[in-house]
Amino acid sequence: MKTVIISNRLPVKIIEENDEYTFIPSEGGLATGLGDVYKSGNSVWIGWPGIEVPEERQEEVKQKLAELNLYPVFLTQNEINLYYEGFSNEVLWPVFHYVVTYAHYEQNYWDCYKSVNEKFAKSAIEILNKRDKIWIQDYQLLLLPGILREKLPASTIGFFQHIPFPSYEIFRLIPWREELLNGIMGADLVGFHTYDDVRHFISTVTRLLPVNSSSNILNSNERQIVVEAFPMGIDFKKFSGLTSTDEVKKEISYFKSGKEDIKIIISIDRLDYSKGILERLKALELLLQLHPEYIGKIELFMIVVPSRDTVQQYSDLRDQIDQFVGNLNARYRSMDWIPVNYFYRSFPIEVLSALYSSADICLVTPMRDGMNLVSKEYVASRNNNDGVLILSEMAGASKELTDALIVNPNNLGDIMEAIVLALKMPLAEQQHRMKAMRAIVEKFNVKHWVNNFILRLNEVKDSQKSLQT
Ligand code: UDP
Ligand code: G6P
Repeated sequence: MKTVIISNRLPVKIIEENDEYTFIPSEGGLATGLGDVYKSGNSVWIGWPGIEVPEERQEEVKQKLAELNLYPVFLTQNEINLYYEGFSNEVLWPVFHYVVTYAHYEQNYWDCYKSVNEKFAKSAIEILNKRDKIWIQDYQLLLLPGILREKLPASTIGFFQHIPFPSYEIFRLIPWREELLNGIMGADLVGFHTYDDVRHFISTVTRLLPVNSSSNILNSNERQIVVEAFPMGIDFKKFSGLTSTDEVKKEISYFKSGKEDIKIIISIDRLDYSKGILERLKALELLLQLHPEYIGKIELFMIVVPSRDTVQQYSDLRDQIDQFVGNLNARYRSMDWIPVNYFYRSFPIEVLSALYSSADICLVTPMRDGMNLVSKEYVASRNNNDGVLILSEMAGASKELTDALIVNPNNLGDIMEAIVLALKMPLAEQQHRMKAMRAIVEKFNVKHWVNNFILRLNEVKDSQKSLQT
């Protein structure tokens, strides 16, 4: 009996250079969080390898991935355009992150979303055994639980959504809202990062579908579906241990040399309008305007990982960031100092670890974020218990990391004041806060998250069976 994880994106993706395929780790919380644990259990993973693979090379890719227990679903360029960029990232992503004006409700996006969800079901059925557990991940596959339930009525299906679930007033805007909810309702257990997401989902389902709820249980067609919060964690030991490896130590000394008197602030995100990157830069500008005493004394290292840049709003955002950073640096820099060190690329984990462990402040200010693992990775990397985390109240992580400096990301003055507070914070207070956060991140790690979800899925299935007998 194995667990079959199904997500849009596999934890590895293909990079093509001179006709050569290389497989590298995927970015994003789902892939980095689950990417290690799935290896240790009896699991396989079904998903898209990140590019269009021509038919003649599909066998080669299949064989290579099978060595890692990964099974590819191949998408055509048209499917990538309409299902992935279109419905997933121009309808569901903006609406679920409350940026409703960015949504494009195109009928052909929806048609393709349905057919690609069917395609994933077909791939899953090819490798599923009767007693396997199915664990579907995230908003790109909302219809899949329903499709699989129809084809395999007795199966055990868990669904976890890694992004927020919006309030009913927002969700109801989507033209295909009932179909989407019916899709999710194919699962036995539905999980979200926070209790607020759970509440929003339950109130939306009970308003839009003929479904009753009692506490966190939904009753539909004589089936019971349990909805619960499972805040995702990270591999604490990995991030805490990395900082003492030779490779990371080398990166740290390289990075810190010449910066002994500078306070380092880091920010690390995928390129995304949900991450509040421009707002963060504006807060830094405000700080340099209102507190000129910090000119030459602080530096922001800002990593923006390329993401979905074929979607218009993402490429527009990239241009805006380029322009803002260019202006800010040109205005404030001196011969030997620059306020923003901006990188538009991804980095290996050793470099990320060096940044996490060298930075005095980690600035995480999303406008909305399901969880935000970067904030937890920073905390896990602070083995000396120092450093200050500034965290948006709109990130799921703020419900757990209450000892961070919590800010409203729309309030630039609030972010600026938090930076000043962090710069002035006595070591004892830093340590007091960081210790408390480290205890939480260590205890509620990603293994705990996986075990908890699977345990609960088993319990839900058992109680369904006992109701039927
Ligand atoms: N990340 C990465 N490469 C980079 C920068 C970041 O793999 O160059 C990882 C980071 O370590 C984290 C993930 O990307 O695990 C981002 O997850 P998060 O939950 O913060 O946001 P998401 O991208 O899922 O919205
Ligand atoms: C978020 C989503 C994931 C997604 C990741 C990267 O973490 O919850 O489902 O995989 O972003 O985005 P991408 O579109 O590149 O897969």
